[in-house]
Amino acid sequence: MLWVLVYAVLVLSVLLCAKWCLKHDGFEKIPGPKGVLLVENALEFLMDPVKLFYYFRSLANQYKHLFKLKLGPKMVLIVHNPEDVETIISGVSNSSKGFLYRFIKPWLQEGLLLSDGPKWQHRRKILTPTFHFNILRHFCSVLEENSRKLVEQLESEVGMPKTNVSSYIIDFTLNSICETAMGTKLDPETSDVGKRYKDSVHKLGTLLVHRSQRVWTYPDWVFSLTSAGRKQKEVLDLLGSFRDNVINKRRENNNNNSQTFILDDKDDDITPGKKKLAMLDLLLQAEKEGIIDAKGIGEEVDTFMFEGHDTTGTALQFAFMLLANNPESQEKVAAECYEIFGDSDREATMNDLGKMKYLECCIKEAIRLYPPVAFIMRKIDKNLKLKQYEVPAGIDCAILIYDLQRRNDQFVEPQQFRPERFLVEPTWHPYAYLPFSAGPRNCIGQKFAMMEMKHSLSAVIRRYRLRPVTRPADVVFVTDFILRPRDPIYVQFQHRFT
Ligand code: HEM
Ligand SMILES: *[C@@H]1O[C@H](CO)[C@@H](O)[C@H](O)[C@H]1NC(C)=O
Ligand SMILES: *[C@@H]1O[C@H](CO)[C@@H](O)[C@H](O)[C@H]1NC(C)=O
Ligand SMILES: *[C@@H]1O[C@H](CO)[C@@H](O)[C@H](O)[C@H]1NC(C)=O
Repeated sequence: MLWVLVYAVLVLSVLLCAKWCLKHDGFEKIPGPKGVLLVENALEFLMDPVKLFYYFRSLANQYKHLFKLKLGPKMVLIVHNPEDVETIISGVSNSSKGFLYRFIKPWLQEGLLLSDGPKWQHRRKILTPTFHFNILRHFCSVLEENSRKLVEQLESEVGMPKTNVSSYIIDFTLNSICETAMGTKLDPETSDVGKRYKDSVHKLGTLLVHRSQRVWTYPDWVFSLTSAGRKQKEVLDLLGSFRDNVINKRRENNNNNSQTFILDDKDDDITPGKKKLAMLDLLLQAEKEGIIDAKGIGEEVDTFMFEGHDTTGTALQFAFMLLANNPESQEKVAAECYEIFGDSDREATMNDLGKMKYLECCIKEAIRLYPPVAFIMRKIDKNLKLKQYEVPAGIDCAILIYDLQRRNDQFVEPQQFRPERFLVEPTWHPYAYLPFSAGPRNCIGQKFAMMEMKHSLSAVIRRYRLRPVTRPADVVFVTDFILRPRDPIYVQFQHRFT
């Protein structure tokens, strides 16, 4: 118990110091919910993760442009208007992420998502070629094959009153990232580990939210003493073993020199004569050249496995729900596919994907309404003027993508699914629509994500008609690092042609 007391005294002095030493007039002027003495807003967030999600929406509604929160000594600025989002994203030179990302650090470490400064630049440079158009073209057939498998698996659901889509979709996205970027197939024995991997990612999310809500667990040594901290360690061990499994399999394969994933590009106009490698092979190659070490490889594999399956999985679930609930849009997608493929069930090529204009609008609209990454953070590293306020350097700033993309001064009928809005010139500010973020730290996998979503959605719509079960109005969200519905999303599958 002694450490609790010592800690309490320590915390109190930090709070007092923060109160008197760190006071900044510019920041004080920014509106925000009034806190209580010393702990400020820190205790307001001790609600269940569902309430917390809606609490943030109500704050965004109350403060139209930006507001501040004080979690004890921690000052956080919350922004959800396009002008200030532009200032922050294009104005921060070091592009380092906000304090919440520190809690993901035990997992993703110095991977691309979390690192900053020279380390980030170096990694981004190594990894950018993996998502070059020429590489993506090679992934096309893998994604096509996995989409076909997804369609086959859904066959057993035809005639059922409702289908929990998430299990099918997450299998599809996890297999897809493993077989493309990692060049490793999840065989039956690993696919069980794969299932536990998905559950672990989920569990980790809840633990991260739990910790963010409790300011006193912010110091790592305190967190490691809590039961949540111990649970997190268990989960991380499991995630680690899955990652090592993926890497070791690829290493073995490469050493055997059989079936290497070296992608030879004759028409490569960027680095002529150089062989192009899938991501993990490229990393293993870089390791041989001494540019990256084994730890670095692990970090990137963790980062891409997570970012590469959970985001697209979430987007696809909502897209399924939206198409089921908007039969006119769904029929337009079906008609577009019919125009491309006719009665044939031939596979979709890169060229075909390019013709799926209307489907693309539907996907863009789905991730406007339901951005899988619902908020991001940045650390402001120089003084900025946001609206009429002077914001000092050093402040952590959260950007609420969810609220930004539903602003009624930017979008006509912002709560409605209207894919047609993407068929015409945007009426909104360029920084009002940011599902993949923007600037130097935007999503490196966005083209891959689009491709994967087009493949799977077109394959499913070609075979099935989706009927609504879960309605958009029924969806209840929980706060997490990825936009998550509390309950499964259900859709009904029927054959399109009988
Ligand atoms: C619909 C799908 C996706 C969405 C909505 C999405 C969204 C985002 C967003 C908003 C960021 C910025 C995060 C931040 O600033 O903290 C980001 C970064 C990132 N994304 Fe995605 N993403 C998607 C799919 C993917 C896929 C498929 C991959 C991998 C193949 C991927 C890999 C990454 C990586 C590595 C970063 C960090 C980039 C950097 O900081 O340099 N994402 N993504
Ligand atoms: C931030 O950027 C400046 C100039 O680009 C650089 O001198 C400084 O070292 C950077 N700081 C960090 C922490 O990366
Ligand atoms: C729906 O599927 C997900 C993913 O497999 C699973 O975790 C969840 O328990 C399922 N929910 C129900 C009610 O079946
Ligand atoms: C590598 O080669 C060895 C011996 O030829 C074989 O036993 C092993 O299964 C191979 N591994 C892979 C992943 O192909």
